[in-house]
Amino acid sequence: MKPRILITKHVYPEAVAILESVGDVQYHDTSVSLPAAELQAAVADKHAMVCQLTDHIDAAVMDSASDLKVIANVAVGFDNIDIPAATERGIVVTNTPGVLTDTTADLAFTLLMAAARRISEADRFLRAGRWQQWEIDLLCGHDIHGHTLGVLGLGRIGRGMAQRAKGFGMRVIYHDQVRAAAAEEQEWGIEFVDRESLFSESDFLSIHVPLTDSTRHAVGKAEFERMKPTAVLVNTSRGPVVDEVALAAALENGQIASAGLDVFEAEPTVEPRLLALENLVLVPHIGSASIKTRTRMCTMAAENAAAVLAGKRPPNPVNPEVLAEE
Ligand code: DGY
Repeated sequence: MKPRILITKHVYPEAVAILESVGDVQYHDTSVSLPAAELQAAVADKHAMVCQLTDHIDAAVMDSASDLKVIANVAVGFDNIDIPAATERGIVVTNTPGVLTDTTADLAFTLLMAAARRISEADRFLRAGRWQQWEIDLLCGHDIHGHTLGVLGLGRIGRGMAQRAKGFGMRVIYHDQVRAAAAEEQEWGIEFVDRESLFSESDFLSIHVPLTDSTRHAVGKAEFERMKPTAVLVNTSRGPVVDEVALAAALENGQIASAGLDVFEAEPTVEPRLLALENLVLVPHIGSASIKTRTRMCTMAAENAAAVLAGKRPPNPVNPEVLAEE
């Protein structure tokens, strides 16, 4: 009997081909999320599910699928899946790390530059026909070179951001729960600082932590109060890490200068006070959105699912303890 596989949303065709070569595929080929009840019905007889960060995979979904062996998320983040519930049920969860590191770091640096140099605002200004002449103080922003980048969370993408900043002659400071080895700090040219100093010393503060109970609203009113009035905040991690209402207030009252956001607390809804502001750049969660990277993310997820279905260790397990028990 061939394994049965659910693909919850539209993916690149290369991934569908991989999955069709190993099982019978039910492909929900649309970008619209299946409502909870329909998702439960669709997964009920499946052995594998390939899902995305917009799918909320909780214990109820898992309980509706007694044969489910693997949940392959097409993302590096997996806060959309109840991992303890999956582990309890012996279901392997996988993600797609590594492949999107540079693409996401590219976007984070793009946001940093666009926010610092007021690119979205300048584009809107020009298109609106408001440009009359060259002026000495027209749309002046902040320099990037020679300034300090603060990295909150020194994972793969945080390191990618640090690497890009070095190319711009920036000082790079970071804070993480775990300090990097001295040799790595030296090699990457980065300095560890305490959390308070990260916020007070950074000209640009880029967030690269996963969303967990302890990082939810990790950047809020108290952090903005510590930041420089010229500082720029960049978030390409997960929206709820930043308190959006506090951020709107900080931008409105000049506590910080600007922000570049790829992620939001309640996607696709954006805090209306942020939408009303000129001094920030907003993009719709496109950190990993290059064709090459998104294709590879899809095929990685398919390969993870296929490996579990073949009784093999998947390349990217999130809860490897389930495998160890096998
Ligand atoms: C992820 O992979 O977690 C990103 O948010 C989407 O690429």
